[in-house]
Amino acid sequence: MSKDYFITTAIDYPNGLPHIGHAYEKILADVIARYRRLNGQRVYFLTGVDQHGQKMQQTAEAEGVNVATLAKRNTKKFLSLWDTLGVHYDGWAETTADDHKHCVQAILRDLHDKGQLYKKTTTLSYSVRQEQYLTDKDRTSEGNFGPEWGEVVKLEEENWWFKLSEHAAWLKGAVESDTFKILPAFRKSEVTNAIERAADTDLCISRPKARLHWGIEIPFDTDFVTYVWFDALINYISFAGYRKAGGSTLPDFDQLWPADAHVIGKDILVPAHSIYWPCMLHAMGFADDQMPTLLVHGWWNSKSQSGEEEKMSKSLGNVVDPAELAQKFGVDALRYYLVRDITTGKDSAFDLSRLIMLFNTELANDLGNLLNRSLTLTKRGALRVTDYDDGQTQALRESLAESVAAYQTAMEHDEVSVALGAINSHVVHCNGFLERNKPWNLAKDESQADRLAAALYHICESCTHLAILLGPVLPTAAEKILAQLRFTPESPVLLADLQWGLLQDGHETGKPKPVFPRIEIPQD
Ligand code: MSP
Repeated sequence: MSKDYFITTAIDYPNGLPHIGHAYEKILADVIARYRRLNGQRVYFLTGVDQHGQKMQQTAEAEGVNVATLAKRNTKKFLSLWDTLGVHYDGWAETTADDHKHCVQAILRDLHDKGQLYKKTTTLSYSVRQEQYLTDKDRTSEGNFGPEWGEVVKLEEENWWFKLSEHAAWLKGAVESDTFKILPAFRKSEVTNAIERAADTDLCISRPKARLHWGIEIPFDTDFVTYVWFDALINYISFAGYRKAGGSTLPDFDQLWPADAHVIGKDILVPAHSIYWPCMLHAMGFADDQMPTLLVHGWWNSKSQSGEEEKMSKSLGNVVDPAELAQKFGVDALRYYLVRDITTGKDSAFDLSRLIMLFNTELANDLGNLLNRSLTLTKRGALRVTDYDDGQTQALRESLAESVAAYQTAMEHDEVSVALGAINSHVVHCNGFLERNKPWNLAKDESQADRLAAALYHICESCTHLAILLGPVLPTAAEKILAQLRFTPESPVLLADLQWGLLQDGHETGKPKPVFPRIEIPQD
C-alpha cells in the first residue's frame, strides 16, 4: 500500500498567546491537507506545541508560575484557536508527552552508541547584571556586548555535542541534488551558503540542569537535558511512530515517512530545519530517499504608522490577534485573507482593510451574488438538461475547465492564492454570463425556454464545482453552498470526479441564504 501524504508544521512555543503567524502556518497546512484529500490522497496532518526550553522556563519564572502549569494553560489556547479556525489535524504533538520523551531518549542512546555524541568544555559569556548567558546574537554590529548587559564574564561549561560537521559534505550533495528538497526553490541558496559554515562546527545538544531544568533528560548523563531544537525537531518522527513503544497508539511510521511537507517559516529554515535536522536524520541512519521535503513560507509583517513594513513583535506591540479577528470578521474572512493575500514563500504586510475588501469583493459580491442569483432564478422549477448550446454556454464550460486546471496546477505547487484567483476568475465569468443572458428576461418569453434552462443549468452546475474547489480553504462555507444547491452526495466528490454533469436532470435546488454577509465597516 502506498504511503500517506504526511504534512507537518513547526510546533509553536506556547509561551504566550498564538499570533497571526502561527495561525497562517496552521491554516496553510490545513488547506494543503484538505486539498490533498480532495485529490484522492490519504493524508496525515501533524501539528502541535514545543513546550520545553529556556523561553518557557523564563516566561514561567517572570509570571511566577510553575512551568508545567504555564505549558498546559497556554497549550489550551492554541488548541482552542485551531478548533475555532477549523484547523483539522490528525496528530497533536506535545513535546512533554511520554511517547516523545521515550523516542528522544532512544535516539540519544543510539547516537551515543554510534559515537556521534561527545562531551566538551567551552567558554561562555555571562551577563552578571541580567543573570543570563549571552550568545553571538546579543552582540552589537561591532561585535561587542552593549552596556545594557553590564559586566560580562567568561564561564566554562561542559556539554554534549553532536558531530554535525561529519555530515556537512553529505548534506551539501543532498541539497544540490534535491535529495533533500527545499521549496520554494529560491530558498535553496540560503541553505547552500549556510552549509559552508556548518562544515567546521558541531552542535551543542545539551544544557546542564543547573541552568535549564525544563527539558528531556540525557539518559546516559542525568545532570543534563537536551537542547531545545534537538528535542523539538524529533517531534516530526516521534509523533509519526518512529521507535514507538509496544502498545503505543501512535501511527505506523512506514505509512507516513518521509514527510511530504514540513511547513515552516523562513526564520527557522537555517540552521535548524535545513542543517541540524537532515544531519540528525542522516546520523540516525535515514537513507537519502528518506529525507523530508521542506515547504518554507514567508512572514506576515505589520505596517507601521508611516506605512513601512515591519516585523511583528511583542515589544513593538504590533502583534495581530487571530482569535479577535475571527470573532470580529468571521473565520471565513480570516482564512480566506491569510492564504489569498500572500504568495507562498514570500512575505506580506497584514492590512485589515484588505481583509475586509477581499471578503466583500470576491466572496460577498462575486461568489455570494452568483449563488444568490442562481438559486433565486432556479427556485421556480427543477433544473432541466437540454440540447441547447451556443457560444456562450460553450465559453462558460471552457472557463470552468480552465479554472479547474489552473486551480489544480497551483495547488500542486502549494500556491493557494493563485488557486483562489482561478476560482474567482470563473465566478466573474459566470456573473458576466448572467448579465449577458439576462435569464430574468428569458423567463418572460416562452420561446426561450430551452435557452433559459441551459443558462440556469450552467450557473448551478458551475456553483457546485466552485464550492467543491473552495472546500479546502473555506470548508464550512463550501458545505453551506452545497447544502443550498442540495448537492449532498453520499461519498465526498473528489477532484477527479469534477466532470460536467454533477447535477442531474430534474435536480431541485434549495433556498438561497447569504453565506458571505458583507462586512460593514463602522463609520466613525
Ligand atoms: N518552536 C519553534 C519551532 C520548532 S519546529 C520543530 C518555533 N516556534 S515559534 O512559535 O516561534 O514559531 C512557530 C512558527 O510560526 C514558525 O514556523 C515561524 O516561522 C512561524 N511564525 C512566527 N511568526 C510569524 C509571522 N509573523 N508570520 C508567519 N509565520 C511566522 O520557532
